[in-house]
Amino acid sequence: MSKLWGGRFTKKTDQLVEEYTASITFDKELAEEDVQGSLAHVTMLGKQGILPADDVDTIKDGLHRVLQRIKRGDWEYAIADEDIHMNIEKALIDDVGPVGGKLHTGRSRNDQVATDMHLYLRKRVVEFVDLLHKLQSALIEQAKANIDTIIPGYTHLQRAQPILFAHHLMAYVSMFGRDAERLQDSYKRINTLPLGAGALAGTTFPIDRHFVAKQLGFDRVYENSLDAVSDRDFILEFLSHASIIMMHLSRLSEELILWSSTEFHFVELDDAFCTGSSIMPQKKNPDVPELVRGKTGRVYGNLVGLLTVLKSLPLAYNKDMQEDKEGMFDTVRTLQGALQLFAPMIATMKVNKDTMRQAVNQDFSNATDIADFLVGKGLPFRQAHEVIGKTVLYCIQQGKYLLDLTLEEFKQFSPLFDDRIYSVLQPENVVNARNVYGGTATPQVTEAIARAERELDATAAWVTEFVEKSR
Ligand code: ARG
Repeated sequence: MSKLWGGRFTKKTDQLVEEYTASITFDKELAEEDVQGSLAHVTMLGKQGILPADDVDTIKDGLHRVLQRIKRGDWEYAIADEDIHMNIEKALIDDVGPVGGKLHTGRSRNDQVATDMHLYLRKRVVEFVDLLHKLQSALIEQAKANIDTIIPGYTHLQRAQPILFAHHLMAYVSMFGRDAERLQDSYKRINTLPLGAGALAGTTFPIDRHFVAKQLGFDRVYENSLDAVSDRDFILEFLSHASIIMMHLSRLSEELILWSSTEFHFVELDDAFCTGSSIMPQKKNPDVPELVRGKTGRVYGNLVGLLTVLKSLPLAYNKDMQEDKEGMFDTVRTLQGALQLFAPMIATMKVNKDTMRQAVNQDFSNATDIADFLVGKGLPFRQAHEVIGKTVLYCIQQGKYLLDLTLEEFKQFSPLFDDRIYSVLQPENVVNARNVYGGTATPQVTEAIARAERELDATAAWVTEFVEKSR
Protein backbone atom coordinates (compact mmCIF):
# COMPACT_ATOMS: atom_id res chain seq x y z
CA MET A 1 0.00 0.00 0.00
CA SER A 2 1.21 3.51 -0.73
CA LYS A 3 1.54 6.24 1.89
CA LEU A 4 -1.53 7.07 3.97
CA TRP A 5 -1.12 10.67 2.85
CA GLY A 6 0.00 9.77 -0.71
CA GLY A 7 -2.97 11.24 -2.64
CA ARG A 8 -1.50 14.66 -3.27
CA PHE A 9 1.87 13.36 -4.39
CA THR A 10 3.04 12.32 -7.84
CA LYS A 11 6.52 11.18 -6.87
CA LYS A 12 7.89 8.69 -4.37
CA THR A 13 9.55 10.12 -1.26
CA ASP A 14 13.31 10.16 -1.53
CA GLN A 15 14.74 7.22 0.42
CA LEU A 16 17.03 9.45 2.48
CA VAL A 17 14.17 11.82 3.30
CA GLU A 18 12.11 8.88 4.43
CA GLU A 19 14.85 7.73 6.79
CA TYR A 20 15.62 11.24 8.00
CA THR A 21 12.05 12.19 8.82
CA ALA A 22 10.78 8.90 10.24
CA SER A 23 10.33 8.64 14.00
CA ILE A 24 9.20 5.02 14.20
CA THR A 25 12.63 3.81 15.34
CA PHE A 26 12.04 5.58 18.66
CA ASP A 27 8.34 6.43 18.94
CA LYS A 28 7.52 2.71 18.75
CA GLU A 29 7.84 3.02 22.51
CA LEU A 30 4.44 4.76 22.45
CA ALA A 31 2.59 1.81 20.88
CA GLU A 32 0.50 1.00 23.92
CA GLU A 33 -0.48 4.61 24.55
CA ASP A 34 -1.29 5.07 20.87
CA VAL A 35 -3.73 2.15 20.89
CA GLN A 36 -5.15 3.28 24.23
CA GLY A 37 -5.91 6.72 22.77
CA SER A 38 -7.35 5.25 19.56
CA LEU A 39 -9.69 2.95 21.48
CA ALA A 40 -11.12 5.89 23.43
CA HIS A 41 -11.38 7.98 20.26
CA VAL A 42 -13.23 5.35 18.25
CA THR A 43 -15.57 4.59 21.13
CA MET A 44 -16.46 8.27 21.19
CA LEU A 45 -16.99 8.30 17.41
CA GLY A 46 -19.54 5.49 17.92
CA LYS A 47 -21.29 7.18 20.82
CA GLN A 48 -21.63 10.39 18.80
CA GLY A 49 -23.08 8.52 15.83
CA ILE A 50 -20.11 9.59 13.69
CA LEU A 51 -19.29 5.92 12.98
CA PRO A 52 -21.76 3.00 12.98
CA ALA A 53 -21.49 0.61 15.94
CA ASP A 54 -20.38 -2.29 13.70
CA ASP A 55 -17.41 -0.34 12.40
CA VAL A 56 -16.47 0.72 15.90
CA ASP A 57 -16.48 -2.88 17.10
CA THR A 58 -14.47 -4.06 14.10
CA ILE A 59 -11.88 -1.31 14.64
CA LYS A 60 -11.61 -1.98 18.36
CA ASP A 61 -11.11 -5.72 17.84
CA GLY A 62 -8.52 -4.96 15.20
CA LEU A 63 -6.67 -2.54 17.49
CA HIS A 64 -6.56 -5.13 20.25
CA ARG A 65 -5.12 -7.69 17.85
CA VAL A 66 -2.51 -5.23 16.58
CA LEU A 67 -1.44 -4.42 20.13
CA GLN A 68 -1.19 -8.11 21.00
CA ARG A 69 1.04 -8.62 17.97
CA ILE A 70 3.22 -5.67 18.95
CA LYS A 71 3.55 -6.98 22.49
CA ARG A 72 4.40 -10.48 21.26
CA GLY A 73 7.01 -8.99 18.95
CA ASP A 74 5.17 -10.50 15.99
CA TRP A 75 5.13 -7.19 14.15
CA GLU A 76 7.48 -5.39 11.86
CA TYR A 77 7.29 -1.67 11.56
CA ALA A 78 8.15 0.09 8.33
CA ILE A 79 10.24 3.22 8.03
CA ALA A 80 8.08 4.10 5.02
CA ASP A 81 5.13 4.44 7.41
CA GLU A 82 7.00 7.15 9.25
CA ASP A 83 5.81 6.94 12.81
CA ILE A 84 3.99 4.81 15.35
CA HIS A 85 0.64 6.37 14.49
CA MET A 86 0.74 5.48 10.80
CA ASN A 87 2.39 2.13 11.41
CA ILE A 88 -0.45 1.13 13.70
CA GLU A 89 -3.09 2.51 11.37
CA LYS A 90 -1.53 0.55 8.50
CA ALA A 91 -1.45 -2.61 10.59
CA LEU A 92 -5.10 -2.05 11.50
CA ILE A 93 -6.14 -1.63 7.87
CA ASP A 94 -4.18 -4.77 6.97
CA ASP A 95 -6.08 -6.57 9.71
CA VAL A 96 -9.67 -5.35 9.29
CA GLY A 97 -9.68 -3.98 5.75
CA PRO A 98 -10.60 -0.47 4.52
CA VAL A 99 -12.95 0.15 7.46
CA GLY A 100 -9.79 0.61 9.53
CA GLY A 101 -9.31 3.84 7.62
CA LYS A 102 -12.29 5.30 9.51
CA LEU A 103 -10.37 5.40 12.78
CA HIS A 104 -8.66 8.67 11.96
CA THR A 105 -12.00 10.51 11.48
CA GLY A 106 -12.02 13.79 13.38
CA ARG A 107 -8.44 13.40 14.49
CA SER A 108 -4.96 14.46 13.42
CA ARG A 109 -1.58 13.02 14.24
CA ASN A 110 -0.89 16.33 15.94
CA ASP A 111 -3.46 15.85 18.69
CA GLN A 112 -2.81 12.10 18.61
CA VAL A 113 0.92 12.30 19.32
CA ALA A 114 0.40 14.88 22.06
CA THR A 115 -2.15 12.56 23.67
CA ASP A 116 0.27 9.63 23.52
CA MET A 117 2.96 11.68 25.25
CA HIS A 118 0.59 12.74 28.00
CA LEU A 119 -0.48 9.14 28.56
CA TYR A 120 3.13 7.96 28.57
CA LEU A 121 4.48 10.59 30.95
CA ARG A 122 1.76 10.36 33.53
CA LYS A 123 2.62 6.69 34.02
CA ARG A 124 6.30 7.52 34.34
CA VAL A 125 5.63 10.30 36.84
CA VAL A 126 3.85 7.87 39.16
CA GLU A 127 6.69 5.36 38.78
CA PHE A 128 9.26 8.01 39.63
CA VAL A 129 7.39 9.11 42.74
CA ASP A 130 7.44 5.46 43.76
CA LEU A 131 11.17 5.10 43.05
CA LEU A 132 11.93 8.26 45.04
CA HIS A 133 9.86 6.84 47.88
CA LYS A 134 12.01 3.68 47.89
CA LEU A 135 15.20 5.70 47.98
CA GLN A 136 13.86 7.88 50.81
CA SER A 137 12.95 4.74 52.76
CA ALA A 138 16.48 3.38 52.35
CA LEU A 139 17.94 6.68 53.57
CA ILE A 140 15.58 6.71 56.55
CA GLU A 141 16.59 3.18 57.52
CA GLN A 142 20.26 4.20 57.48
CA ALA A 143 19.38 7.32 59.49
CA LYS A 144 17.66 5.18 62.11
CA ALA A 145 20.66 2.85 62.29
CA ASN A 146 22.89 5.90 62.76
CA ILE A 147 20.87 8.00 65.14
CA ASP A 148 23.85 8.11 67.51
CA THR A 149 26.62 8.35 64.90
CA ILE A 150 28.42 11.68 64.93
CA ILE A 151 30.34 13.03 61.94
CA PRO A 152 31.98 16.35 61.24
CA GLY A 153 29.55 18.58 59.41
CA TYR A 154 31.25 20.58 56.65
CA THR A 155 31.08 23.96 55.06
CA HIS A 156 33.57 24.74 52.28
CA LEU A 157 34.44 21.05 52.73
CA GLN A 158 36.19 22.14 55.94
CA ARG A 159 35.09 20.67 59.25
CA ALA A 160 32.52 23.07 60.68
CA GLN A 161 30.35 21.62 63.46
CA PRO A 162 29.67 18.04 64.52
CA ILE A 163 26.30 16.66 63.42
CA LEU A 164 24.50 13.36 63.51
CA PHE A 165 25.13 11.27 60.40
CA ALA A 166 21.37 10.64 60.54
CA HIS A 167 20.81 14.40 60.22
CA HIS A 168 23.01 14.49 57.12
CA LEU A 169 21.09 11.61 55.53
CA MET A 170 17.75 13.20 56.41
CA ALA A 171 18.73 16.28 54.43
CA TYR A 172 18.63 14.07 51.33
CA VAL A 173 15.27 12.66 52.42
CA SER A 174 13.96 16.24 52.39
CA MET A 175 15.51 16.91 48.98
CA PHE A 176 14.00 13.80 47.39
CA GLY A 177 10.72 14.62 49.14
CA ARG A 178 10.59 17.96 47.32
CA ASP A 179 11.38 16.12 44.08
CA ALA A 180 8.44 13.78 44.60
CA GLU A 181 6.20 16.71 45.47
CA ARG A 182 7.18 18.51 42.26
CA LEU A 183 6.33 15.44 40.19
CA GLN A 184 3.02 15.00 41.98
CA ASP A 185 2.21 18.64 41.34
CA SER A 186 3.02 18.33 37.63
CA TYR A 187 0.56 15.46 37.32
CA LYS A 188 -2.40 17.79 37.00
CA ARG A 189 -0.88 19.50 33.98
CA ILE A 190 0.21 16.23 32.43
CA ASN A 191 -3.27 14.90 32.98
CA THR A 192 -4.89 17.27 30.47
CA LEU A 193 -6.22 15.89 27.18
CA PRO A 194 -5.17 17.41 23.83
CA LEU A 195 -7.23 15.03 21.66
CA GLY A 196 -10.03 16.73 19.78
CA ALA A 197 -7.87 19.68 18.81
CA GLY A 198 -7.50 18.14 15.36
CA ALA A 199 -4.57 19.42 13.36
CA LEU A 200 -4.80 22.81 15.09
CA ALA A 201 -8.28 24.30 14.81
CA GLY A 202 -10.66 21.66 16.10
CA THR A 203 -12.77 19.43 13.86
CA THR A 204 -15.97 19.62 11.82
CA PHE A 205 -17.25 16.38 13.38
CA PRO A 206 -19.53 16.58 16.44
CA ILE A 207 -16.99 14.95 18.76
CA ASP A 208 -17.20 14.82 22.56
CA ARG A 209 -13.80 15.66 23.98
CA HIS A 210 -14.91 15.40 27.59
CA PHE A 211 -16.14 11.87 27.00
CA VAL A 212 -12.73 10.89 25.63
CA ALA A 213 -11.05 12.58 28.59
CA LYS A 214 -13.22 10.64 31.01
CA GLN A 215 -12.50 7.31 29.33
CA LEU A 216 -8.77 7.93 29.45
CA GLY A 217 -8.81 9.22 33.02
CA PHE A 218 -7.86 12.80 32.13
CA ASP A 219 -9.07 15.41 34.61
CA ARG A 220 -9.61 18.07 31.97
CA VAL A 221 -9.14 18.95 28.31
CA TYR A 222 -6.97 21.65 26.76
CA GLU A 223 -8.98 24.86 26.48
CA ASN A 224 -7.44 26.00 23.21
CA SER A 225 -6.91 23.73 20.21
CA LEU A 226 -3.71 25.49 19.07
CA ASP A 227 -2.25 25.25 22.54
CA ALA A 228 -3.28 21.58 22.76
CA VAL A 229 -1.13 20.56 19.80
CA SER A 230 1.74 23.01 20.41
CA ASP A 231 2.24 22.55 24.11
CA ARG A 232 5.27 20.62 25.28
CA ASP A 233 5.53 22.40 28.63
CA PHE A 234 4.54 19.21 30.40
CA ILE A 235 7.60 17.47 28.92
CA LEU A 236 9.85 20.41 29.78
CA GLU A 237 8.53 20.31 33.30
CA PHE A 238 9.32 16.63 33.56
CA LEU A 239 12.80 17.18 32.14
CA SER A 240 13.39 19.99 34.65
CA HIS A 241 12.22 17.90 37.56
CA ALA A 242 14.37 15.02 36.33
CA SER A 243 17.35 17.39 36.11
CA ILE A 244 16.86 18.50 39.70
CA ILE A 245 16.58 14.89 40.86
CA MET A 246 19.79 14.02 39.01
CA MET A 247 21.49 17.05 40.55
CA HIS A 248 20.47 15.78 44.00
CA LEU A 249 21.69 12.28 43.15
CA SER A 250 24.90 13.75 41.85
CA ARG A 251 25.54 15.64 45.10
CA LEU A 252 24.92 12.48 47.07
CA SER A 253 27.16 10.59 44.62
CA GLU A 254 29.97 13.04 45.19
CA GLU A 255 29.69 12.55 48.95
CA LEU A 256 29.62 8.78 48.63
CA ILE A 257 32.69 8.89 46.42
CA LEU A 258 34.55 11.09 48.92
CA TRP A 259 33.37 9.11 51.92
CA SER A 260 34.47 5.80 50.43
CA SER A 261 37.98 7.08 49.66
CA THR A 262 40.79 5.87 51.91
CA GLU A 263 41.24 9.48 53.05
CA PHE A 264 37.73 9.63 54.54
CA HIS A 265 36.94 5.95 55.01
CA PHE A 266 33.49 6.93 56.37
CA VAL A 267 31.49 4.38 54.39
CA GLU A 268 32.02 1.28 52.34
CA LEU A 269 29.74 0.55 49.40
CA ASP A 270 28.76 -3.06 49.01
CA ASP A 271 30.83 -5.15 46.59
CA ALA A 272 27.72 -5.69 44.49
CA PHE A 273 27.68 -1.97 43.65
CA CYS A 274 31.36 -1.50 42.91
CA THR A 275 33.76 -2.65 40.23
CA GLY A 276 37.45 -3.45 40.11
CA SER A 277 40.39 -2.26 38.08
CA SER A 278 41.84 -4.29 35.21
CA ILE A 279 45.37 -3.40 36.27
CA MET A 280 45.37 -2.44 39.97
CA PRO A 281 44.24 -5.47 41.97
CA GLN A 282 43.64 -3.53 45.20
CA LYS A 283 41.01 -1.25 43.73
CA LYS A 284 37.31 -1.11 44.44
CA ASN A 285 35.78 1.71 42.47
CA PRO A 286 32.49 3.51 43.22
CA ASP A 287 31.39 3.32 39.57
CA VAL A 288 27.69 3.65 40.24
CA PRO A 289 27.81 7.05 41.94
CA GLU A 290 30.48 8.16 39.47
CA LEU A 291 28.29 7.25 36.53
CA VAL A 292 25.21 8.83 38.06
CA ARG A 293 27.23 12.00 38.57
CA GLY A 294 28.36 11.77 34.94
CA LYS A 295 24.94 10.98 33.49
CA THR A 296 23.53 14.09 35.14
CA GLY A 297 25.06 15.88 32.15
CA ARG A 298 22.92 14.14 29.56
CA VAL A 299 19.77 14.73 31.59
CA TYR A 300 20.54 18.46 31.72
CA GLY A 301 21.33 18.22 28.00
CA ASN A 302 17.93 16.75 27.20
CA LEU A 303 16.26 19.66 29.01
CA VAL A 304 18.32 22.31 27.27
CA GLY A 305 17.87 20.47 23.98
CA LEU A 306 14.09 20.60 24.11
CA LEU A 307 13.99 24.17 25.40
CA THR A 308 16.05 25.08 22.37
CA VAL A 309 13.87 23.10 19.96
CA LEU A 310 10.76 24.90 21.16
CA LYS A 311 12.27 28.36 21.32
CA SER A 312 10.90 30.51 18.45
CA LEU A 313 8.59 27.82 17.09
CA PRO A 314 5.52 29.44 15.57
CA LEU A 315 2.14 27.95 16.46
CA ALA A 316 0.96 25.33 15.97
CA TYR A 317 2.59 21.96 15.17
CA ASN A 318 5.99 21.97 13.47
CA LYS A 319 7.99 18.89 12.58
CA ASP A 320 10.72 20.16 14.91
CA MET A 321 8.51 18.95 17.72
CA GLN A 322 9.19 15.35 16.82
CA GLU A 323 12.52 16.05 18.53
CA ASP A 324 10.72 16.00 21.88
CA LYS A 325 10.86 12.23 22.16
CA GLU A 326 14.37 10.81 22.17
CA GLY A 327 15.58 13.11 24.93
CA MET A 328 12.52 12.34 27.01
CA PHE A 329 12.96 8.58 26.61
CA ASP A 330 16.64 8.91 27.39
CA THR A 331 15.94 10.91 30.54
CA VAL A 332 13.33 8.38 31.63
CA ARG A 333 15.78 5.51 31.19
CA THR A 334 18.68 7.34 32.82
CA LEU A 335 16.66 8.36 35.84
CA GLN A 336 15.10 4.93 36.21
CA GLY A 337 18.53 3.33 36.21
CA ALA A 338 19.94 5.76 38.76
CA LEU A 339 17.04 5.56 41.20
CA GLN A 340 16.75 1.78 40.92
CA LEU A 341 20.42 1.40 41.86
CA PHE A 342 20.57 4.04 44.54
CA ALA A 343 18.00 2.59 46.93
CA PRO A 344 19.71 -0.80 47.37
CA MET A 345 23.17 0.79 47.29
CA ILE A 346 22.24 3.05 50.22
CA ALA A 347 20.52 0.18 52.03
CA THR A 348 23.63 -2.04 51.85
CA MET A 349 26.18 0.70 52.53
CA LYS A 350 28.42 -0.03 55.53
CA VAL A 351 28.94 2.94 57.85
CA ASN A 352 32.29 3.15 59.64
CA LYS A 353 31.00 4.74 62.83
CA ASP A 354 34.39 4.56 64.55
CA THR A 355 36.20 6.41 61.79
CA MET A 356 33.53 9.08 61.81
CA ARG A 357 33.81 9.43 65.55
CA GLN A 358 37.60 9.58 65.34
CA ALA A 359 37.31 12.41 62.82
CA VAL A 360 35.14 14.40 65.22
CA ASN A 361 37.58 13.88 68.10
CA GLN A 362 40.41 15.22 66.01
CA ASP A 363 39.07 18.53 64.88
CA PHE A 364 37.98 21.94 66.09
CA SER A 365 34.35 21.59 65.10
CA ASN A 366 33.38 22.25 68.74
CA ALA A 367 34.94 25.73 68.67
CA THR A 368 31.64 27.55 68.11
CA ASP A 369 30.34 26.03 71.30
CA ILE A 370 32.99 27.48 73.56
CA ALA A 371 32.47 30.83 71.90
CA ASP A 372 28.76 30.44 72.74
CA PHE A 373 29.83 29.48 76.29
CA LEU A 374 31.67 32.78 76.71
CA VAL A 375 28.68 34.63 75.25
CA GLY A 376 26.60 32.95 77.96
CA LYS A 377 28.99 34.55 80.44
CA GLY A 378 28.25 37.98 79.02
CA LEU A 379 31.10 38.41 76.52
CA PRO A 380 29.95 39.95 73.20
CA PHE A 381 30.03 37.29 70.47
CA ARG A 382 32.62 39.17 68.37
CA GLN A 383 35.06 39.20 71.32
CA ALA A 384 34.32 35.57 72.14
CA HIS A 385 35.06 34.71 68.50
CA GLU A 386 38.43 36.45 68.80
CA VAL A 387 39.28 34.66 72.07
CA ILE A 388 38.50 31.24 70.61
CA GLY A 389 40.35 32.04 67.41
CA LYS A 390 43.48 32.68 69.48
CA THR A 391 42.85 29.54 71.57
CA VAL A 392 42.56 27.42 68.41
CA LEU A 393 45.76 28.96 67.03
CA TYR A 394 47.52 28.09 70.28
CA CYS A 395 46.24 24.50 70.01
CA ILE A 396 47.48 24.21 66.43
CA GLN A 397 50.91 25.49 67.48
CA GLN A 398 50.99 23.04 70.40
CA GLY A 399 49.65 20.11 68.34
CA LYS A 400 46.62 19.79 70.63
CA TYR A 401 42.84 19.81 70.37
CA LEU A 402 40.57 21.95 72.56
CA LEU A 403 39.72 19.07 74.87
CA ASP A 404 43.47 18.51 75.55
CA LEU A 405 43.96 21.96 77.12
CA THR A 406 44.14 22.37 80.89
CA LEU A 407 41.90 24.92 82.57
CA GLU A 408 45.00 27.06 83.20
CA GLU A 409 45.75 27.08 79.52
CA PHE A 410 42.16 28.12 78.75
CA LYS A 411 42.31 30.88 81.35
CA GLN A 412 45.30 32.44 79.58
CA PHE A 413 42.81 33.46 76.90
CA SER A 414 39.89 34.49 79.11
CA PRO A 415 39.24 34.49 82.84
CA LEU A 416 35.62 33.57 82.08
CA PHE A 417 36.47 29.90 81.40
CA ASP A 418 35.59 27.37 84.07
CA ASP A 419 35.62 23.57 84.15
CA ARG A 420 32.13 23.29 82.64
CA ILE A 421 33.74 23.82 79.24
CA TYR A 422 34.95 20.19 79.22
CA SER A 423 31.36 19.06 79.14
CA VAL A 424 30.35 21.76 76.64
CA LEU A 425 33.10 20.54 74.30
CA GLN A 426 32.00 16.87 74.21
CA PRO A 427 30.76 16.15 70.67
CA GLU A 428 27.52 14.59 71.99
CA ASN A 429 26.81 17.78 73.92
CA VAL A 430 27.75 19.95 70.98
CA VAL A 431 25.26 18.04 68.84
CA ASN A 432 22.51 17.98 71.43
CA ALA A 433 22.90 21.66 72.20
CA ARG A 434 21.37 22.35 68.77
CA ASN A 435 17.93 21.46 69.95
CA VAL A 436 15.95 23.71 67.63
CA TYR A 437 13.30 22.58 65.19
CA GLY A 438 15.20 21.19 62.18
CA GLY A 439 18.49 21.07 64.12
CA THR A 440 20.87 18.16 64.66
CA ALA A 441 20.08 17.35 68.32
CA THR A 442 19.01 13.73 68.75
CA PRO A 443 15.39 14.51 69.77
CA GLN A 444 15.00 16.79 66.74
CA VAL A 445 16.37 14.20 64.32
CA THR A 446 14.22 11.48 65.87
CA GLU A 447 11.21 13.73 65.36
CA ALA A 448 12.30 14.53 61.80
CA ILE A 449 12.47 10.81 61.03
CA ALA A 450 8.97 10.32 62.40
CA ARG A 451 7.66 13.22 60.29
CA ALA A 452 9.36 11.87 57.18
CA GLU A 453 7.85 8.44 57.75
CA ARG A 454 4.38 9.96 58.00
CA GLU A 455 4.98 11.83 54.75
CA LEU A 456 6.17 8.65 53.09
CA ASP A 457 2.96 6.91 54.10
CA ALA A 458 1.02 9.69 52.40
CA THR A 459 3.19 9.36 49.29
CA ALA A 460 2.65 5.59 49.21
CA ALA A 461 -1.11 6.15 49.34
CA TRP A 462 -0.82 8.66 46.47
CA VAL A 463 1.15 6.16 44.39
CA THR A 464 -1.42 3.41 44.99
CA GLU A 465 -4.23 5.74 43.96
CA PHE A 466 -2.47 7.16 40.90
CA VAL A 467 -1.06 3.88 39.60
CA GLU A 468 -4.69 2.91 38.96
CA LYS A 469 -5.64 6.30 37.52
CA SER A 470 -2.71 6.51 35.15
CA ARG A 471 -3.10 3.07 33.54
N1 ARG B 1 5.84 11.70 14.34
C1 ARG B 1 5.24 12.96 14.53
C2 ARG B 1 5.81 13.60 15.81
O1 ARG B 1 6.28 12.89 16.59
C3 ARG B 1 3.76 12.84 14.69
C4 ARG B 1 3.02 14.07 14.33
C5 ARG B 1 3.14 14.29 12.87
N2 ARG B 1 2.35 15.37 12.42
C6 ARG B 1 2.54 15.94 11.23
N3 ARG B 1 1.80 16.93 10.93
N4 ARG B 1 3.49 15.54 10.42
O2 ARG B 1 5.78 14.80 16.00
